[in-house]
Amino acid sequence: MTLGLVTDEPRHAPVLFNEALGFMRPGVHWDGTLGLGGHAIGYLNKFPDSHLVGSDADLQMLALAKEALKNAQCLARTTLLHGNYSEIEPEANLKYDSILLDLGISSLHLDSLPRGITYRFDQPLDMRLNTQNGEPLSTWLNRASEYEIRSVIHRYGEEPAAPRIAREIIKERENKPIETTFHLTSIIRRALPPSRTAQRGHVERHPEVRTYQAFRIHTNSELEHLEKALHRIPDFLQEGGRLIIISFHSLEDRLVKNHFRSLERIAVSDPLAKSNWKQGQFQVLTPKPIVPAKDEIELNPRSRSAKMRVLEKRGENHV
Ligand SMILES: C[S@@+](CC[C@H](N)C(=O)[O-])C[C@H]1O[C@@H](n2cnc3c(N)ncnc32)[C@H](O)[C@@H]1O
Repeated sequence: MTLGLVTDEPRHAPVLFNEALGFMRPGVHWDGTLGLGGHAIGYLNKFPDSHLVGSDADLQMLALAKEALKNAQCLARTTLLHGNYSEIEPEANLKYDSILLDLGISSLHLDSLPRGITYRFDQPLDMRLNTQNGEPLSTWLNRASEYEIRSVIHRYGEEPAAPRIAREIIKERENKPIETTFHLTSIIRRALPPSRTAQRGHVERHPEVRTYQAFRIHTNSELEHLEKALHRIPDFLQEGGRLIIISFHSLEDRLVKNHFRSLERIAVSDPLAKSNWKQGQFQVLTPKPIVPAKDEIELNPRSRSAKMRVLEKRGENHV
C-alpha cells in the first residue's frame, strides 16, 4: 500500500499520555481512535499480559499503526479493525476493561497526509478521514446553500465573520468551482476584515484556521459520531471498566460532560421515593476535566485545548 505522505517520518505526540494510562485497566482495552498507536503501545507496554483492540476510521492511519505496533513488538497482542468508533461492535459478548477515545485528528493529518485538512499545503479539498465514505468537502462546498455554509462555519468554528465568508464562497463558485486549499484560503482571506488579515505579529497569523476546523468537523460528522458513541459505548464496559475521552473542542467536551453526568443519576418516577434520583450504574471519576500540564503544552502546543474525562462502570452491588 502506498501511503502518499507529504513528509517522510510520521509523528504524533500522544496527548495526556501518562494521565490517560493511569486510568486504563489490565485485561482487554479498546482504542477506538488508534492514530499512530502512541497510547495503545503505552498500554501494551504497561500491561504485558493484556490485549488491545485498535480501530481507526482512516485506513492509512491503521496501516501506519500496524507498522508502529510491529516495531514495538506488540502486534501479536493486537486486533486491528477499520471503522468508525460509533459503529464498531465488540466481538460477541466481549466487554472491555478500558476504552480510549482520543478525538479529532492526528498531527499526521496536518503535517503529512494530503487530505486538504490544513491550510499549509496546496491540496485537493477532501478533508475526509475515511476516504471510502461520504463526500469530499469540495463536493459539498460547491453545492451547499449560503445558509448551510454560514451555519457550519458559525457553529463549529465560532467564526464571527461566518456570514461574510459564506457570501464570498457563493460568489466565487459562480466563476470557478472551489477545489483546493489555497483557493479556499484566498477566498476566506478576501472575506475577512483588514484588521484580521494585516500582518500583526503573531496575533492571527492564520485567520482561516477556524473555518478549516469547522469544515473538517462537518465533513466527518464528528459531533454526530461522538453523540452516537456516547449512547452505545458505556455498555461495552466490564464492571469496573473505564471509558476515557480526550476532546479538543468545547462542543465535544460539553457533550461528553453532560452525557457522563446523565449516566451517573437516573430519574425515579415513584412518587413515594425519598428522592427523584437514584445512583446509576456509572460514576464519573473526573469531577473536573484533566488538562495538560504547562510542560506538555510547551513541548506540544497542539495539546493546549485537550480535556480528558473518565467514566467508570460500577459493579451490580453499587446500584
Ligand atoms: C488524536 S488522533 C489519535 C492519536 C493516538 N491516540 C496516538 O497516540 O497516536 C485521532 C485518531 O482518531 C481517528 N478518528 C477520528 N474520528 C474517528 C471516528 N469517528 N472513528 C474512528 N476513528 C476516528 C483519526 O483518524 C485519528 O487517527
